[in-house]
Order: sequence, then C-alpha cells, then structure tokens
Amino acid sequence: MILAQALRNIFRFPSTRGHRALTPDPLERTPMRRPFIAGNWKMNLGCQDAVRLAQQIREVLGSLPDRDVAVCPTFVSLGAVAQVLEGSPIQVGGQDCARFDDGAYTGEVSATILRSTGARLVILGHSERRHVMGETDEVVRAKMGKAREHGLRPILCVGETLEEREAGRTLEVVERQVRKGLEGFGAPDLAETTVAYEPVWAIGTGKVATPEQAQEVHAAIRGWLKELGGAVGEDMRIQYGGSVKPSNVNGLMAMRDIDGALVGGASLKADDFAELVGFDLS
Ligand code: PGA
Repeated sequence: MILAQALRNIFRFPSTRGHRALTPDPLERTPMRRPFIAGNWKMNLGCQDAVRLAQQIREVLGSLPDRDVAVCPTFVSLGAVAQVLEGSPIQVGGQDCARFDDGAYTGEVSATILRSTGARLVILGHSERRHVMGETDEVVRAKMGKAREHGLRPILCVGETLEEREAGRTLEVVERQVRKGLEGFGAPDLAETTVAYEPVWAIGTGKVATPEQAQEVHAAIRGWLKELGGAVGEDMRIQYGGSVKPSNVNGLMAMRDIDGALVGGASLKADDFAELVGFDLS
C-alpha cells in the first residue's frame, strides 16, 4: 500500500517520555502517563467503511512502542472493527454505554454487551451526549459506574460551553463535571480512567484552544485528580479534545499536563490520524 509506505517513511517515533525520563526534570510526566490518542468516529461510517478505515489505520501505524492508540466506532461496527484490530496494539472502544444492566431498555447498549464486541474502552459524558441528548452529570456518573463494574476503561469527557467560558465559569463547570463523574471512585477505578478536556466551543468548529488555554484547565483537573486519588491522580491521563489536527498536535502535546488527544474529524482519515499519532515531542 503506497499510502502506508509513504507514512512509514516520514514517521519517526521520536524521543519518548520514557527516554526523556532518564534526564531528571521536575516537569516530566510520570512514566504511567504514556501518550494516549483516541479517535472518536462519532456517527460516521457504515460497517464496510469502518472496517476499511480500521484496516488502513492498522496497516499505516504498525507497532506503537511508546504510545497508546484507540478507535471508537459506532456500536454497529464495533464487533467488525474489533476483529480487524485483534492482535494489533490499537484498542477499541464504544462512544457511550447504558446506565443500566442488560434488560428491557430498547435501543440501549449495556457495558456488558459493549465488552462482548471486544471493546475495552468507552467514551462517556461527551459534550454531544450532554448537550444534544441532554445527559446530566448524574446520568454520566451512573454510566461511569456501569463501565467500571463491567471492566471497561472510561474516558470521561468534560468541558465548558462558549457562554460559560465568556462568563468566567470554565473552572467551576469543569470541576463539577470531574467531581461528579468520578464520585465514589476509589484509586483502582481512577487508575483505569482517562479524563478528556474538550471545550465545547472547540469541538468540530476548527477553533482549537491554544496550548496555554488547554494547559490551564488541564493543570486544574490534575489538581482535582490528585485530591481525589493522591498519587493515582498524578498518574491519570488527561487528553485534550477539540479540533486536534496534525498541524496543532505537537504544540498541545508539549504541555505538561496534556497526555494525549481525543480526536473527532481528523480521526476519520487514516493518514491524518496516523500523522497525529506520530506527533513529535522532540
Ligand atoms: P473534533 O471532535 O476533533 O472533530 O473537534 C473532538 C471530539 O468531539 O471528541
């Protein structure tokens, strides 16, 4: 495949945090915080197209010695995508799960059913779920609980709207979403959880938060995670999401508390996604 070859040629998997950890640096991330890039395919791609994209991504990425990668297709293509990616380092996740156990809940997909497809991750509390489908903090918390009960690793999404940012309420809103989403979680559950800071005004709009704007909120989230989980909070990964592209990923990933990215639009093209995953920290 010509595309795969071309990308392999331009890819270097450069200085990793592991290598850099050899030099003592108080700003260095902990070794547990391997960079984690997840693609959120949202409500895009039929089953065949999803399988094709998964095959291309697998082909292009090859092995991933120093970073974690996941894709999150629709429920409908999860099983087929998981099969394509079996045995590869690319993990598979759902975009949501029910807050109930299996039973009479027409149209819902439980955490156990999600797991049966091969998924091991689940995105919860995405702003499109909160703001379009009306999910409250309580609903998100209930889903977080079900995910952990059934062995899924959640990515808890939090983020303020433009109105909230302009009213100076960013940290207040994000703190509430973080604390409520993680309510009752002890260290073992926190250790399996990723938080994704996704300012609503930056999602799908092309308006990316500046690395400094994102870092400010990530640092605050880190503080709350440490309050909740002590050393575990220091090791938890916080992704940034909202118009992440190959052209802006390096600047974001250079920030101390940004440990990865949750990527929508740019995850739908294998070459863009691969370029993102190959971000350069050097
Ligand atoms: P975007 O979406 O990259 O298309 O802005 C990110 C997300 O919603 O997770």
